[in-house]
Amino acid sequence: MAIFENKQDKTFTLYTKNTMYQMKVDDFGVLQHIYYGKRMEYVDLSYSAWLGVVSFSPNPIDRVNYSNNHAPLELSACGLGDFRINALALRNHDGSLAADPRFYSAEVIKGKYSIPGLPAFYGEEGETLVITLKDSLYDIYFHMYYGVLEEYDLITRAVRIENKSDRSIKLERALSATLDLPNGRYDMVSFYGRHTRERMYERANINHSRLTVESVRGASSHMQNPFVIIADRETNEDYGDAWGMALVYSGNFMVIAEMDHMDKTRVIIGINPENFNYEVPAGDVFCTPEVAMVYSDAGFGKMSNCFHKAIRNNLCRGEYKYAERPVLINNWEATYFDFNADKLVSMARDAAKIGVELLVMDDGWFGNRDNDTTSLGDWFPNEEKLQGTLKSLAERVNNEGLKFGIWFEPECISSVSELYKEHPDYAFKIPGREPQISRWQYILDYSRKEVCDNIYEQLCKVLENANISYVKWDFNRHISDLYSVALPAEKQGEVYHRYMLGLYDLLERITSKFPHILFESCSGGGGRFDCGMLYYMPQVWTSDNSDAIDRLKIQYGTSFAYPVRTMGAHVSVCPNHQNARVTPLQTRGNVAYFGTYGLELDITKMTDEEKAEIKRQIVEFKKYYNLIQFGDYYRLSSPFDEENSLYCAWEVAREDGSEALVCAVRYGQDANSAPETFKVKGLCPNKFYRINGSEEKYLGQALMTVGIRYKYDFFSYPSNLYHITLA
Ligand code: GLA
Repeated sequence: MAIFENKQDKTFTLYTKNTMYQMKVDDFGVLQHIYYGKRMEYVDLSYSAWLGVVSFSPNPIDRVNYSNNHAPLELSACGLGDFRINALALRNHDGSLAADPRFYSAEVIKGKYSIPGLPAFYGEEGETLVITLKDSLYDIYFHMYYGVLEEYDLITRAVRIENKSDRSIKLERALSATLDLPNGRYDMVSFYGRHTRERMYERANINHSRLTVESVRGASSHMQNPFVIIADRETNEDYGDAWGMALVYSGNFMVIAEMDHMDKTRVIIGINPENFNYEVPAGDVFCTPEVAMVYSDAGFGKMSNCFHKAIRNNLCRGEYKYAERPVLINNWEATYFDFNADKLVSMARDAAKIGVELLVMDDGWFGNRDNDTTSLGDWFPNEEKLQGTLKSLAERVNNEGLKFGIWFEPECISSVSELYKEHPDYAFKIPGREPQISRWQYILDYSRKEVCDNIYEQLCKVLENANISYVKWDFNRHISDLYSVALPAEKQGEVYHRYMLGLYDLLERITSKFPHILFESCSGGGGRFDCGMLYYMPQVWTSDNSDAIDRLKIQYGTSFAYPVRTMGAHVSVCPNHQNARVTPLQTRGNVAYFGTYGLELDITKMTDEEKAEIKRQIVEFKKYYNLIQFGDYYRLSSPFDEENSLYCAWEVAREDGSEALVCAVRYGQDANSAPETFKVKGLCPNKFYRINGSEEKYLGQALMTVGIRYKYDFFSYPSNLYHITLA
């Protein structure tokens, strides 16, 4: 039983394998947050929730020693004395901005809940607790959903707001969760970036000023990721408390952490309130997206592993959830827009010889698209460029022994396109204002069903008429000029979220209609790498930056929440197209192994020696495939720690400690540098191991506590794999 209700104590306790989460209904019906941390025997922990002196904080008339401003709350709302950051701003029909949620009922349901129209973790083996709170004045109900996946220490939360009154209400802010932590000093770890530099690790103290991580770009974005870690000041990879929070949503989001006036830390997470104003008519409901949380008492590493397993097993779906993904070659960096069918077929022919399994035709195959100024929205093949039909091109590629994949950017529309000529109103545009253009394109108004249907029909026609095994779903600009002609003025604050609902619905329709197709999500590389997208598409193009050294930081940062299996990673040519760096081909391969491994280059222009090396890599990648994709992942040495180390190292290990693979890349280039060692993780302490088949045997405990010295080759950016097997 993962969920335990103690009627006498009025507590609800959620248990996972190693963690415990407790709430209590106080004497006035307020749902208090009591505890989230290490698992222990049941005890009512509410004695610990000291509320503090209530000076200069308003209190309800019947509760002199109590204030909403001090209580640890499961649902924090503005208007009635809680002056801290809060999750809910509800405008009632009378114009007041206030809500007073009190306990109404509770129910335990077998299986993990789902949310209509929104992505969410799933699992019949899970359990759900629904605590319903009701406003003390109006017939407005707050159904607080708690999902528990015990095995992965995962607890999810979402709120369904139900308006049973006979008048409309407006949500001006409706975040998914409030997390009130006890007194202490905490940090927030977040992942910032920009195009070609996504998910850079950053750690900041949570102090009395508010710390915000957010996106208002209509996409989760390159700039911040909807995943944060709250941690004790001392927490590191292996020690200390860490609370990871991942929002299962791909649009505007916000996380705020603050230390309040009583030195308690509050975190709120959910949809960004900027330009959000959602009407819930009488009898209707609004569901927030879900937030998934993992607490670890042993640092970031343990937390990441829980997220990795839960995402692999209980978020990603479809035929490719566990199936081996094909090694693909993508023509983008090989040709950009300048290709025809013969060129692609010649690439397929050479690629087949070295073991590649799928060829992706990237941007430029449709409409009149020979550059990025035109044709998004016109999803019909350019038969001149393809030297025949799309079907015949797919056949030609198949005849070379490769599967065939294709690129789309379904949410955008070029100003020069047939679709724009016919339906200029399909694009977001504020009346009377010239819309901002970005890469010569506008955004389609996916809040409108007929717009989504138009694109759906076009996509189906393409996918039905050729043998297509893979789709790259791109999104190369973010949203501005938000305005839907289909909605009245007072509902424009709903468009951002309605856009996401339209997108998710379209993705659900397309991915379920074409279950054999592998979908990869992309947004100018990793501009929409989040749990929302992973529910529909099990891998994401991690970054347009394919340089092996820059990728260390990008993939390392991404690994805090997301498993290796979700990270698109390709070998490309040198000098690298994004930063002109020259790295050994072997290092490019080693880094791409810790992702979905593919190629982003013109194979026909590679030397025989290079082709032989890539052929070797594909064999090696496949040899380690199962271990890399399904093993436990460990970060050993951080590429963000340039001052202390010249190496980045990460590892995957079988859960039972029987085998491990370490990848170490030397990214620094100092002369006469001091020797460095790395310590392996996840081995059996009392067993002996060999490294890369060595004669010498090493005790597991020794490898984990003393470590071994990095091998050092005297050239730029060397890398090594250390395959550790039982002796
Ligand atoms: C984005 C993607 C690239 C490529 C181009 C095509 O930038 O991230 O991989 O598909 O679009 O225009």
